[in-house]
Amino acid sequence: MSQIPVIAIDGPGGSGKGTLARKVAENLNWHLLDSGALYRIVGCTCVRRGVDPNDEAAAAELAEKLTIRFEGERAFVDDDDITDEIRSEDGGTLASIVAAHPQVRKAVLNLQHGFRRAPGLVADGRDMGTVVFADAGLKIFLDASAEERAERRYKQLKNKGLSVSLPGLLEQITERDARDRGRAIAPLKPAEDAVVIDSTQMTIDEVVTQVMSLVSDHGFGRAAERAE
Ligand code: C5P
Repeated sequence: MSQIPVIAIDGPGGSGKGTLARKVAENLNWHLLDSGALYRIVGCTCVRRGVDPNDEAAAAELAEKLTIRFEGERAFVDDDDITDEIRSEDGGTLASIVAAHPQVRKAVLNLQHGFRRAPGLVADGRDMGTVVFADAGLKIFLDASAEERAERRYKQLKNKGLSVSLPGLLEQITERDARDRGRAIAPLKPAEDAVVIDSTQMTIDEVVTQVMSLVSDHGFGRAAERAE
């Protein structure tokens, strides 16, 4: 078992876990894994290369051979910047289709373990605490109602100047939740030893404050140095 500490942050899309994970990683000066981005990359690259995302063997073969690179918040496959593609609503749907295939999850598992580097890792996803880093020292499950999550996403997209429909977003979120919670492998659910936080009525700053206090209760402090 690795000595390098992990904080696992799981939950449905729009719960605020991505922002939370980034802030916790910044506060601790630890590495960050956005595992959803890996599934988004696999899903979007399937479409780019004419591979059917429902074809498990083909999607897994593609996932095993991918050359992925992150530069800050930008994601590259080979040398193509595919950040905007993977961040779209369709990117999320494609991710959840390929993520339901056990062979794809196996390929992505190896990639994820590679992110565990000193001084520590904050890992954001659906199965960080239940499967990928089951030995994590602190596990958070961040939830929020589907309506609140759709509303947050709606505001985000509107601020970007995009025209979107709130009922359409709610439908997409509900459909993706059902697929993520209902799948046979690594379904979205809190680990038995996770601290469950419902952010429906909370601001992100309130969530960060609560989690940082759990982080210090667990004896994790800011690292002076972080190897790249
Ligand atoms: O977190 P994000 O919305 O980027 O995740 C996109 C999709 O990837 C999720 O809806 C889920 O189907 C899949 N996923 C997963 N396991 C993870 C992270 C994401 O199955 N650890």
